[in-house]
Amino acid sequence: MPNALRAYVDGQVAGPGLQKWLHYFEIYHRHLDKFVGRRPVVVEVGVFSGGSLPMWRQYFGPGCHVHGIDIDSECEAFGSPDSTIHIGDQADRAMWKRFRETVPRVDVLIDDGGHQPEQQAATLEEMLPHILPGGVYICEDVHGAGNRFAEFACSLCHRLNAGKIETGAGGVDAIVATPFQAAIHSVHWYPMALVIEKRKSAELLFSAPLRGNEWRA
Ligand SMILES: C[S@@+](CC[C@H](N)C(=O)[O-])C[C@H]1O[C@@H](n2cnc3c(N)ncnc32)[C@H](O)[C@@H]1O
Repeated sequence: MPNALRAYVDGQVAGPGLQKWLHYFEIYHRHLDKFVGRRPVVVEVGVFSGGSLPMWRQYFGPGCHVHGIDIDSECEAFGSPDSTIHIGDQADRAMWKRFRETVPRVDVLIDDGGHQPEQQAATLEEMLPHILPGGVYICEDVHGAGNRFAEFACSLCHRLNAGKIETGAGGVDAIVATPFQAAIHSVHWYPMALVIEKRKSAELLFSAPLRGNEWRA
């Protein structure tokens, strides 16, 4: 599958600085391709030299708006009509409350900020519920075996498996979805990166109907 993001970064020999692990480009394209041409609202925590802002805008196409968040006020210089810069600390939950009030619609959030577990956890907790149905959350740079943010995020994997099987009429097994299962489609781990996809519409019941009519006793 051609990957326009990878082609973009490979062609960036001049202009604002941009640094991403190369294996992330396959991950981005796999999970974000569905937003291309759909005017998504994208949030990236971590602006640094500003090079990723035009990359996202070019990839998603006209109408895409990128909100860059950074603790360093010098990043304000990278604002443009289609990129809004917000200065704040991603570990500050009051900052996220203000952000949610200012930006009511978010399709994609990429956390490439301070990379500390408590910063990543606050960002996930404050913003995952705010991302629209069908939206995608990505956290980059989860480094180190035993990383505390990874342990926290793995507890979300366990929450995907929650629920008690009830066998109903005709032997149909069913599980009533928890609110987490109803909203979250999947949790994906890659080397140093976490992706969470939200469901487009709530899944309230998982069921396993019987098919076929030949069964072993
Ligand atoms: C890895 S750089 C971002 C790189 C950029 N996304 C790119 O692709 O080129 C990390 C940025 O996160 C910012 N940062 C560090 N701690 C932060 C925090 N607590 N809240 C928000 N931004 C933070 C730094 O100022 C720095 O600009």
